[in-house]
Amino acid sequence: MDHPVEVLLEEHRLIERMLAEVETRILAAPQIPIEFAEIALDFFAAFADGSHHHKEERVLFPMLEAAGVPAHGGPIAVMLHEHDLGRRCLSDVRNNIEAAKSGSPAAAAAIRSAFAGYAELLRRHIWKEDNILFEMAKVHISGEAQMAEMQRLFEAEAKATGLRQRYEAILNEVCGTAVY
Ligand SMILES: [Fe+2]
Ligand SMILES: [Fe+2]
Repeated sequence: MDHPVEVLLEEHRLIERMLAEVETRILAAPQIPIEFAEIALDFFAAFADGSHHHKEERVLFPMLEAAGVPAHGGPIAVMLHEHDLGRRCLSDVRNNIEAAKSGSPAAAAAIRSAFAGYAELLRRHIWKEDNILFEMAKVHISGEAQMAEMQRLFEAEAKATGLRQRYEAILNEVCGTAVY
């Protein structure tokens, strides 16, 4: 059986694909395509934060804590802090969308800057999880019963929300219609 943490690794690859789109279409572009900025914001808020970080915060981190990884002062606290920083970047994007639609250059600049911060943060965050935290998970959550429980909770989330399926489709659509 693959370790259930592989589900989170696969989701990182999806999040990175949208980050790459943001880097090309927003960070490296002279004008911000607001419609795409809204799609990216929704993807990160609903899928990366709502579904993916939710699974980490409600399933992975508590199971690591139960296995003896400290909740405070260690990698879990760092990951939680970075999830919060990401939420702040997304709020900054959200709070400037309407003004940017009305043509405010300051709002467009604020959106670009918030996405730049988010992309940098998430790329480093994902690296740490892939290479440090998830490796710890494979060591600390290795019993058959623990892995089965984690798998069950991830599948329950997927079944209840359908978010991964929905946002994978949106991602494929966005990547397939890219005009540079
Ligand atoms: Fe995370
Ligand atoms: Fe993650």
